[in-house]
Amino acid sequence: MALTPKPAILQINRYKQGLSKAKGNKRIIKLSSNESPLGASPKAIDAYVQAATDMHRYPDGAATLLREAIGKVHNLNSERIICGAGSDEIIAMLCHAYAGDGDEVLYTEYGFLMYAIYTRIAGATPVTAREENLRVSVDNVLAAVTPRTKIVFIANPNNPTGSYISKDELLRLRQNLPENVLLVIDSAYAEYVSNKDYTAGETIVDMGKNTVMTRTFSKIYGLASLRIGWGYCPESVMDVLSRVRGPFNVSTPAILAARAAVLDTKFTRQAKEHNDKWLPWLTKKMEESGLKVYPSVGNFILVEFGEGAKNADAANDFLMEQGIIARNVASYGLPSCLRFTIGTEEENEALAEAIEEFYGV
Ligand SMILES: Cc1ncc(COP(=O)(O)O)c(C=O)c1O
Repeated sequence: MALTPKPAILQINRYKQGLSKAKGNKRIIKLSSNESPLGASPKAIDAYVQAATDMHRYPDGAATLLREAIGKVHNLNSERIICGAGSDEIIAMLCHAYAGDGDEVLYTEYGFLMYAIYTRIAGATPVTAREENLRVSVDNVLAAVTPRTKIVFIANPNNPTGSYISKDELLRLRQNLPENVLLVIDSAYAEYVSNKDYTAGETIVDMGKNTVMTRTFSKIYGLASLRIGWGYCPESVMDVLSRVRGPFNVSTPAILAARAAVLDTKFTRQAKEHNDKWLPWLTKKMEESGLKVYPSVGNFILVEFGEGAKNADAANDFLMEQGIIARNVASYGLPSCLRFTIGTEEENEALAEAIEEFYGV
């Protein structure tokens, strides 16, 4: 008999990462993966280099130094912080621990694609709730809950839409979900948001025993290649995840670089200021070219291209020829849109110029 995986595995649509190459082009402007245009803090790079001499030693599996630094900067109890190889791994651990055969995991129509993948790996069924105008609808999420629902994932802000829901809406969701449903607030882009009605979710985690917040070092901290993220959990969830976590799931260079990055609050502030300046600038430029831009509070924008000859595919081809790599979001069910990460000053200007040229403005 032929070797076969569990049937659910073959139902997974493979995750395709943002492209990083444009054929035959010397100048590459990679705006496809929401990475930081400013790179990592020099202090994080230094910590990474220093860690090289200890490569023969296993890491501290509990990532104690990093958890303490996160706890200090965010004013959180480090005993309830779990670190993972990207927030991705925390999402995977939660699916493995809380969902299995016959269970449902709920997220929204344009939610982050990895929720569905880890749900299927865990043997559970992914279920989506419709969004309204590319924004999470708490009513639609609540209406999609069944007795089989075990986890609800809300990316806030969401990728690829850039939209967010307020603290009040998140609270209403939590308060109306059954107690045995785990709410995961995925706040990968939290550091970019300044809106007064926004919360990354810490206080909601502290209100009960059934909410987790996940965060990443891949975005504003510029450490995407190190694969390091974290979650803030109630005590009981921390206990469960500590059993599920591989003994050495994060590496020493990642632990030490992330620790230096989170402590370098000045650098983080500069990265936010850069985004605060260029997010509205690029939005305006796109709008001046006649394009619809969905309001974003992240470090990227979702842009709608019309039907016809100058559609998203044509724009993508045109940009690729110039070495500008956007994110095709057809796999998210948004074939008429492209997503662009906010780049450096030069990159943003080059993108705006290329879009103007494409439309003959
Ligand atoms: C909403 C959201 N959550 C989680 C992640 C995963 O990030 P990482 O695994 O790099 O921490 C991403 C990455 O793009 C994301 O957009």
